[in-house]
Amino acid sequence: MAKSVLGLVGGSGIYDLPGLENAEWVGVDSPWGDPSDKVRIGYIDGLKVVFLPRHGRGHIYAPSDINYRANIDVLKRCGVTDLVSVSACGSLKEELAPGTFVLVDQFIDRTFARAKSFFGQGCVAHVSMAYPVSPKLVDCVEMAARAEDLSYRRGGTYLAMEGPQFSSLAESHLYRSWGCDVIGMTNMPEAKLAREAEICYTTVAMITDYDSWHPDHGEVDIQAILKVLHDNASNAQRLVARIARDLPREHEACPVGSDTALEFAIMTAPEA
Ligand code: ADE
Repeated sequence: MAKSVLGLVGGSGIYDLPGLENAEWVGVDSPWGDPSDKVRIGYIDGLKVVFLPRHGRGHIYAPSDINYRANIDVLKRCGVTDLVSVSACGSLKEELAPGTFVLVDQFIDRTFARAKSFFGQGCVAHVSMAYPVSPKLVDCVEMAARAEDLSYRRGGTYLAMEGPQFSSLAESHLYRSWGCDVIGMTNMPEAKLAREAEICYTTVAMITDYDSWHPDHGEVDIQAILKVLHDNASNAQRLVARIARDLPREHEACPVGSDTALEFAIMTAPEA
């Protein structure tokens, strides 16, 4: 069994984790271009933790401009086996109030202006995305959320939109009619590329607002989102630090095959 290496993608606040030892920023080259930033590598109780600021330090990349392939590639090169994606999201359900953490288990990908696969130029692969998150990793996140006494819900469908503008009222109602729970701009194609890279993946959606559908909350407002994010930063930090403390040190086989996704997925015949 391989040793676990925990990857974290998210915003500021979670790269200065309490207890992160020997941390340093490391530049990692990728043939897929420039990742969002250097990675911050450190250790928590002997576990290697690799953090990548999704939008770059200083928030310089809009969701459509993030090089998702390079980001996943550098995490893979750092040995990441398990990736927790921490993302601000809007709520599409009354009961998911700002401040709630949703452990997403499904996605609907409505993005259209992003490179979504490592495959296709001379090598074709079709991985399964039926079960996009890795249940053992979600177990670990759920135990951490419970131990930290956070308001969370396990399970939920994430609608990935292109942005950067927020949804119209009609779009927000449409996504609700589809049964979606949260909406965000960044977790696709991240989840698809993690699967192609055979990295176990899960999303922690931090609810920052009710999307535009909610009659009592009006339009989505970035200043209000930033305030919720700020007020919730220490919860996110405690959650992530706990995940790092509790993740099994030996990587366990994924029940939905995230870590073996390519085994039967590649169609191109090997060169003779
Ligand atoms: N990120 C945070 N809130 C959002 C919303 N309402 N729509 C899309 N992305 C978001």
